[in-house]
Amino acid sequence: ALSACGSDDGGKSASGADIVKKGTLTVCSDVPYPPFEDFDKSSDTGFKGFDVDIVSEVAERLDLKLAIKDSSFDALQSGQALNAGQCDLAASAMTITDDRKKNIDFSDGYYDSKQSLLVAADSKIASIGDLKGVKVGVQQGTTGKTYTEENAKGAEVVSFPSDAEMFQAIKAGQVQALLQDLPVNLDHTTDGQYKVVETYDTDEAYGLAIKKGNTQLVEDVNGALEEMHSDGTYDEIYNKYFST
Ligand code: ARG
Repeated sequence: ALSACGSDDGGKSASGADIVKKGTLTVCSDVPYPPFEDFDKSSDTGFKGFDVDIVSEVAERLDLKLAIKDSSFDALQSGQALNAGQCDLAASAMTITDDRKKNIDFSDGYYDSKQSLLVAADSKIASIGDLKGVKVGVQQGTTGKTYTEENAKGAEVVSFPSDAEMFQAIKAGQVQALLQDLPVNLDHTTDGQYKVVETYDTDEAYGLAIKKGNTQLVEDVNGALEEMHSDGTYDEIYNKYFST
């Protein structure tokens, strides 16, 4: 989402049984965050990406229709949107962390990720040690922001609500580097104007986020993920986006 604008229906967050009754799994995501989530007018849901394919399969296996809502990442990772009942589940390339587990339940991990540093193709910045006095763009509420604050000594950390705004800022010269999840930074290198100069093995696993205490839905989602792993569907989706 470009700004904090999580749409809301004011409804109560559904339990596993309620969702089945409604027949629809409502999923919140901070879009765009390619290759995990992006807009796509030609698709049924209006969205595309790795996360979108994963939750489409999960919904199908739970016999539910899928509705996706664009939301602010910070409201998702804090548990605010889930607890307010804006969605049943958040699929937003969200890293499972102990801190978040205080407010959110997570499915099993479904994707392993790292952090990374993106700079202009002609930049002299080669590593995190070169960021002293440099403006570094990060996304609010993310593990990339925390990593930058803890490891980029002397950097001027500039926080944005979304990846789209971060990318806009580096294009406009307002920041000289972006520190965030590797696949998303790599997505910004495709036109040759930017490069990833360093990656950081932060051992992050993405999980689907569920309202705290909704253990039935966590179990159902984990069951669907397990099935997708054993019948090859997970690999199929993975290879569609990460063909290496
Ligand atoms: N994996 C990182 C985190 O959990 C960044 C996720 C940002 N996701 C998004 N859709 N903007 O903090």
